Amino acid sequence: MVKLGVLASGTGTILESILEHSIEVAVVVVDRPCRAVKVAMDVDIPVELVVRDSFGDSFDREKYSELVAAVLAKYQLDVIAMAGYGTVLGKSVFDKFPGRILNTHPSLLPKFKGWHAVRDALESGDDLTGCTVHVATLGVDEGPILAQREVPIFPDDSEKSLHERIKEVERELYPATIVEFMEKISQEAPI
Ligand code: GRF
Repeated sequence: MVKLGVLASGTGTILESILEHSIEVAVVVVDRPCRAVKVAMDVDIPVELVVRDSFGDSFDREKYSELVAAVLAKYQLDVIAMAGYGTVLGKSVFDKFPGRILNTHPSLLPKFKGWHAVRDALESGDDLTGCTVHVATLGVDEGPILAQREVPIFPDDSEKSLHERIKEVERELYPATIVEFMEKISQEAPI
């Protein structure tokens, strides 16, 4: 059986959608206390809090990533799904799961990479944005694209209303893509 771990930091609605699609999750790793912890605990999924104690220049990304990699290693995972994880991870995590870390991003990549994808789309004057599920790599919001869906931008949209409309689509597209990806991985040799 292919074992999936989820990384989250936020409200956990993407995590909820993964669970609602009956995808088994072996562990949820968070970098801060957040609602995703409750979502996991409510259904008895183990939660690992690897606290990120600094957001400034003093943040040691490599050291933090080694801690995350060590926690993930405890669960013998095959695939990792980032679901709104708020920390850019370093080499040690990607080396451990080559080509097996997935991410969902609220824009039509390669447009609008980074933390402010929704705001950037809104400010661009475009009338269309969307979401992208891709294989995550060391380059932020890069890596092979697995699936994309368009979402309209309305003239009266706020960042919040647009992000919510995108997330409604992500909550269908991401679980469906994870299922397909896990089926593919189940036919490959273990890492
Ligand atoms: C999603 O839009 C995802 O693409 C982005 O963070 C959001 C997570 O939403 N990386 P939630 O915290 O699961 O509600």
